Amino acid sequence: MSKPVLLVTRKLPEAVQARAARDYDARLNPEDEPWHKDGAEIARRAAECGAAGLLCAAGDPMNAATIDALPGSVRILATFSVGTDHIDLDAARRRGLVVANTPDVLSFATAEIAFTLLLMAARRAGEGERLVRAGRWTGWTPTQLMGTTLEGKVLGIAGFGRIGREMARMARGFSMKIHYRNRSRLPPEQEDGAIYHDSDAGFLGAIDVLSMHMPGGGATRKWLNAERIGMLKPGAIVVNTGRGTSVDDDALIAALKSGRVRAAGLDVYDGEPRVHPGYLGLENVALLPHLGSATTETRDAMGFRALDNLDAVLRHGLQAPHRVV
Ligand code: DGY
Repeated sequence: MSKPVLLVTRKLPEAVQARAARDYDARLNPEDEPWHKDGAEIARRAAECGAAGLLCAAGDPMNAATIDALPGSVRILATFSVGTDHIDLDAARRRGLVVANTPDVLSFATAEIAFTLLLMAARRAGEGERLVRAGRWTGWTPTQLMGTTLEGKVLGIAGFGRIGREMARMARGFSMKIHYRNRSRLPPEQEDGAIYHDSDAGFLGAIDVLSMHMPGGGATRKWLNAERIGMLKPGAIVVNTGRGTSVDDDALIAALKSGRVRAAGLDVYDGEPRVHPGYLGLENVALLPHLGSATTETRDAMGFRALDNLDAVLRHGLQAPHRVV
């Protein structure tokens, strides 16, 4: 029996590409050529090869125009990401296209990056690193680059899903107290002692550090705006590893400049890879290039999960195990 045709939009880890090539008539993008940035080109290639499935990734423009232009042969869109904000889910629904993602396997790695940024922001690690690299370090002094400790501080987690809860677990090891804001309160075994807040004002006013783990999309757009920044304690720290669209960059930059926000750590950006130029000259912000899930182990696991979704639908006639639509 012939293998289903699979169009893969991005270069993926070797082991993932090898499995795709073993089980599918896989059309890979081994050089990571930028055609994946163009929805019309994705649709054209899918039509040209008669794709039954598409393995796309975070940032691919899977908007309504792309989805509407896909050939009828495409039955499933498996994204190599937990986030689905790059996919127009309504358009997929209208077209009867299955959409599946890769939850769970990236929670620890993403929480690790959130914690990395939190430590960088609190302990001024980026500034220190830049100082040493520039050859400007003149030696230890009793008052040089003093940061603030995390010990005993209140960590506020906005979005207490799997990644937020991993972050909480790590923070307990630093003797931090955990508060959270979420669409709804979680059962006690998931809270594990974390304090739930049912209002933004109560939440933001109670915490020393805000770690954002919110999904992208219209409902969270510019959630951290000037008004909510004003609800934070003066000198709070902000970390965002969710989606850049949930921060009002002008408001955060103004707060970092004035010291209203002591320091920030960002892994995601509105309109990435573009980064608001206002951040670039600020010493009190640590900037990473969307590294949340970037470990070998996690990226392999994400690829295998995406392939499990494809296998279920295209090879075994089953439901995708991580179906979103
Ligand atoms: C995701 O999976 O949504 C990430 O942002 C990419 O690692």
